Amino acid sequence: GEETSKRARPDNAPSPASAPRSLSVRRQLYDRHFPVYKQPVEVGHFSLDSGRNFFSDARQLRYYAAPRRSPGFDLRDGYRDRFVKRDDGVKERLDHVLRWILANRSKVECRDGARALGVDFVTWRGHLTKLLTTPYETQEGWLLAVSKLDGTLYISEVETEDARRNRENRTERHEEMMYWGYKFEQYACADDPHGSPDPDGVVNTNEAFCTVVQTRLSEHKLLFSGEVDCRDRNPSAPPPPACYIELKTSAEIHTPKQRSNFHRYKLLKWWAQSFLPGVPQIVAGFRDHDGKVVSVETFQTSGISHLIKNEYNCWKPTVCMNFCSDFLSFVKTVVRVDDSRLVYLFSWDPHRDVSYSIHRDSEYTFLPDWYIKEMSR
Ligand code: A3P
Ligand code: MG
Ligand code: MG
Repeated sequence: GEETSKRARPDNAPSPASAPRSLSVRRQLYDRHFPVYKQPVEVGHFSLDSGRNFFSDARQLRYYAAPRRSPGFDLRDGYRDRFVKRDDGVKERLDHVLRWILANRSKVECRDGARALGVDFVTWRGHLTKLLTTPYETQEGWLLAVSKLDGTLYISEVETEDARRNRENRTERHEEMMYWGYKFEQYACADDPHGSPDPDGVVNTNEAFCTVVQTRLSEHKLLFSGEVDCRDRNPSAPPPPACYIELKTSAEIHTPKQRSNFHRYKLLKWWAQSFLPGVPQIVAGFRDHDGKVVSVETFQTSGISHLIKNEYNCWKPTVCMNFCSDFLSFVKTVVRVDDSRLVYLFSWDPHRDVSYSIHRDSEYTFLPDWYIKEMSR
């Protein structure tokens, strides 16, 4: 693809000359009052079946069936003979979210007339999770592609070279351990509110239930979707997303050092992922090296920031949220041209500032023709 110079003709330059070239990630800059984050509202949901086909309904939603406190689940069971793994070499970009938008346009409030969506940003929850954890990330960078269409900014992740290399060179042990999280879900979830889990069934990671929420961070109106593991089976539980439960697995904790690492690294990612869509509970299965679940513990998402307060020099939710808010402001000042064929590629590597480059009709273009065509009707 052709890279457009940021200093090209000033009258129709892709970015205004006044736009900053980079954004700092230094924590101190973001350690200020907690920004406004409106209670996320579920505006819809969708399902992906065992063949990764899209349905604008809740057919893949599962129900939490609380396990015993020390269940002894064997997470290795079925890895060889009852596992269908999603092909993670297939890049779906924002396609499922865009399909949901086309099928539910009336539910996304409108701005000027019927065409434009009433939000500033459309993305996946997982992309926002990466932004929230950026001030504390020291290992993995990211690439986020942004295009503007009818006033709305769409953010879609691009796999980095490092991430691709890691994905293509996983050890057999790592490959198996990635299955354990999904196997735990199978042990803890039923297909019906009154049903029981079926540990003898097949684990198919193509299947997913996703919530679509709308909220506001500072002045940024957001619409994003994220996968939800299960819901409270009690029909009188609060309405979504407050009835949703996130499931996690983690290595069992024996030493103070292990507990400290769990607080510093794992709880940051767990908190960011569940706080964004307003999922209030996280059920954790702690497992040994052999994949046996030795204990199950429930965490309140809102309680995590208190749990970590005794850690020296620990992460702060306000730093995460202010960085995300300032990044979105940065994107708004940089991305001025409303053209789905232009991609502003924001990139970040640990210990560096966020920077960007501009690409026209390149491999990075991600808004599909079927979406642009239907949105302009
Ligand atoms: P665990 O997080 O319990 O290990 P999620 O927790 O987001 O619902 O994801 C379900 C499971 O998918 C994870 O369970 C893990 O097994 C796998 N998984 C999710 N994100 C991953 C990633 N970035 N790399 C490897 N595996 C991942
Ligand atoms: Mg999940
Ligand atoms: Mg989970």
